[in-house]
Amino acid sequence: MHVFITGGTGLIGSAVVAELLGNGHTVLALARSDASALAVEAAGATAIRGALADLDTLRDGVAQTDAVIHLAFGNDFSSPEALANAVAEESAALTTLGQALLGSGRPLVTVSGTPYVPGRVSTEADPLSTDGPVGGRARTVTTILELASRGVRTAAVRLPRTVHNEGKGGFAGLLTNIARQNGVSGYPGDGTQRWPAVHALDAAVLFRLALENAPAGSSWHAVDDEGDAVRDIAAVIGRRLGLPIESVPQETYGPLGPIFATDQPSSSASTREILGWKPTHPSLLDDLENIQP
Ligand SMILES: NC(=O)c1ccc[n+]([C@@H]2O[C@H](COP(=O)([O-])OP(=O)(O)OC[C@H]3O[C@@H](n4cnc5c(N)ncnc54)[C@H](OP(=O)(O)O)[C@@H]3O)[C@@H](O)[C@H]2O)c1
Repeated sequence: MHVFITGGTGLIGSAVVAELLGNGHTVLALARSDASALAVEAAGATAIRGALADLDTLRDGVAQTDAVIHLAFGNDFSSPEALANAVAEESAALTTLGQALLGSGRPLVTVSGTPYVPGRVSTEADPLSTDGPVGGRARTVTTILELASRGVRTAAVRLPRTVHNEGKGGFAGLLTNIARQNGVSGYPGDGTQRWPAVHALDAAVLFRLALENAPAGSSWHAVDDEGDAVRDIAAVIGRRLGLPIESVPQETYGPLGPIFATDQPSSSASTREILGWKPTHPSLLDDLENIQP
């Protein structure tokens, strides 16, 4: 397939581009800067210049291709307003992509997040959590999946809290950055809350499998580690950086504080069984050993 991708220069998107190109697909990648255009061309894709807010460019990308994978997100967690703006921008973009595909029967695979269910491990059958600062992302994905009834082969790949590569990325990557800034490898609460995780190269395989095989309206979990205790994540970060490991106030993490404090293990049993997905790359705690002081 000739695949239009947003976010193809990111930690996860660059792995998805490589996975697609390595498996017989070709890629048209949205690129919002010269540097991003150069990066996608160097990877073997074709660039289409524009940003998520350029809705005509998104329609153009859909018109030129057979399928769409959406990953771009302005990861600005600096304030509630910045985060709300990024959520609104993504919602408009994803809605535009879905509308452009109506009646085509073509695939639209969108990024999403694993849900949390109090007291148990979440599964692919659980609805997305629509509360909290990123609840708007979940509402948009739910609406997009409903386009299955209007001739779009929609699918959501739900990512865990940390998608990592070479010790970087996701919530664990944010913990590392904040530890460097504050001189303490912190965690909120008692640190027994668990976050699921996956290596970016394994997540990329699931995006390809969903693109190729997922039935319309389906959701999948790119989860390797069901749940790593946040205290254990902070312990590796602290040891690698030579910093003390301590509980810190939830407010340290800004608008993400409540999410950081939540126990949210997740399973991928159904995804592995139905799509034949099998992660092979290092777990989060092993990959964090790549952090350099
Ligand atoms: N990493 C994780 O642990 C994790 C976990 C759960 C969900 N996710 C989600 O997975 C997706 C990809 O994450 P990532 O870790 O790969 O992020 P990333 O490394 O920060 O990459 C973000 C990508 O989005 C692009 N982008 C951002 N804002 C854009 C805009 N306004 N217009 C066009 N492109 C824009 C970036 O382009 P430039 O290269 O030009 O900046 C880049 O390609 C995001 O939706 C993220 O929320 C990630």
